[in-house]
Amino acid sequence: MTKMETGLGAGDSLTFDETVLARRSVRAFRPDPVPQPLLEHVFALAGRAPSNCNTQPWLSAVFGGAACERLRRGFMADFAAGKVSMDFPYAGKYDGIYKDRQYDAAEKLYGAMGIERADKAGRGAAFMRNFAFFDAPHVAFLFIPDWAGVREAADAGMYAQTLMLGLAAHGIGSCPQTALSFLCDMVRAEAGIDASWKLLFGISFGYEDDGQPANACRLGRAVLDDTVRFVN
Ligand SMILES: Cc1cc2nc3c(=O)[nH]c(=O)nc-3n(C[C@H](O)[C@H](O)[C@H](O)COP(=O)(O)O)c2cc1C
Repeated sequence: MTKMETGLGAGDSLTFDETVLARRSVRAFRPDPVPQPLLEHVFALAGRAPSNCNTQPWLSAVFGGAACERLRRGFMADFAAGKVSMDFPYAGKYDGIYKDRQYDAAEKLYGAMGIERADKAGRGAAFMRNFAFFDAPHVAFLFIPDWAGVREAADAGMYAQTLMLGLAAHGIGSCPQTALSFLCDMVRAEAGIDASWKLLFGISFGYEDDGQPANACRLGRAVLDDTVRFVN
């Protein structure tokens, strides 16, 4: 949902239910930057996320302006050249229902973009858009400490969702991207962050370009009975 659609300014926000339903992954952005006071407001809201023992085991590196453009160029060049560095390599392949959901998501995204299943070049080009941050004017990278385990990764997930809901509530689109963890050394160097912080994923964000086919993708969810057990 764009700022224009919501008619929201810096001081306004959607209700909670509206916000949750408005948030979805946005994969094409307009170039206009988000005002710095609104950025600071939303990142401060994200910091209200709960964490084990209030340890707040997260660090965001938020790029905008010339720094974002430099990083975008670096990402596109280095990924194309195969210079990948990941702090958290993939654990394995999806199977069963998880594989089905992954296929459904890919089919719907590429379908919205008019890319056929057999069109490998088209899919490759669409995947490369990850490294251009989908043209977003901002990108945030979420780090956790090197001693962190599953609990801290869960804390960081809560922080990230609070951030994306905060953005959505103020009419700002976002896309969380594991693809943005593929060049962790470059991000640390550009952000001046030392190797004791490990990169979990990145989030491109800004005002949605709602005329773009990638943003027409809508994904459903499993029915409640498949994901919730009420025990009385
Ligand atoms: C941790 C995480 C990593 C993701 N990585 C990518 C990515 O690299 N590229 C991408 O286009 N979408 C990525 N996504 C977006 C998911 O595909 C998307 O959240 C999911 O399909 C549900 O769609 P929705 O966000 O529109 O509701 C990621 C989502 C999460 C939570």
